[in-house]
Amino acid sequence: MMWVILLGPPGAGKGTQAQALSSRHGWLHLATGDLLREAVTQETSLGKEAAVYMKQGTLVPDRIIIGLIQERLSSSAVIAGCLFDGFPRNLSQARELDRVMQQQGRGLDRAISLEVNGEALVRRLTSRRVCGRCHRVYNLLTNPSKAGDRCESCGEDLQQRADDDEETIRRRLAVYREDTEPLKDHYKHQGILSVISGDASPEEVGERIEDALGRPSPGR
Ligand code: AP5
Repeated sequence: MMWVILLGPPGAGKGTQAQALSSRHGWLHLATGDLLREAVTQETSLGKEAAVYMKQGTLVPDRIIIGLIQERLSSSAVIAGCLFDGFPRNLSQARELDRVMQQQGRGLDRAISLEVNGEALVRRLTSRRVCGRCHRVYNLLTNPSKAGDRCESCGEDLQQRADDDEETIRRRLAVYREDTEPLKDHYKHQGILSVISGDASPEEVGERIEDALGRPSPGR
């Protein structure tokens, strides 16, 4: 069983890689951004509160995030492993995750940091389209849907995320540098950090991640 964190700035490819890894290995994919967007769509009270922060490109308060993670971990069976995508996002969330792992009598196996330069990230995010139902990720320039403006997997209309306008993207990048990037040191000290360039095709990046996890890559 593996417990893995995917770190990296907005647009680095965390969601793209997490979907492929979790379906390949049967891991639980825990993406706080997706959980929050579901709550926003359903207009729950949590969703209404979170939407204000997400629209601005700032972090949603820790008490909401930690509640979401605890609820999802207690209601889902983690059989082969768990992949955290977009969590933790600051030191207090990382310490909370350390505490949860300790309670379970185990540690995290690896923290993968995907690195891509800032202007490439802005290009990727302004051309991203996502499926509102199954969360599959596309890109108008590099990975368009074969079904046009619908999802290839489930047929739902594709959408542009509310926080994918250029001004909000730049704020999200600044928040990442300020609050999330310091987590690399936290996991370096734990001896589990792997820094990987995300500036290659998704397939190549996937192979780099598999190498870092010490598993054979698909097709090898
Ligand atoms: P979240 O949903 O987590 O967004 P993010 O971290 O900003 O990351 P993204 O989803 O934008 O990018 P990604 O790295 O997953 O890239 P993707 O694979 O889609 O968070 C959104 C908001 O929710 C936050 O701002 C915050 O408000 C809140 N939030 C979430 N978690 C929180 C937490 N823990 N605490 C507090 N607040 C929280 O790829 C991007 C594009 O690039 C796609 O079009 C894709 O097709 C393309 N692409 C992917 N890989 C490649 C490649 N190798 N080459 C070329 N193109 C590629």
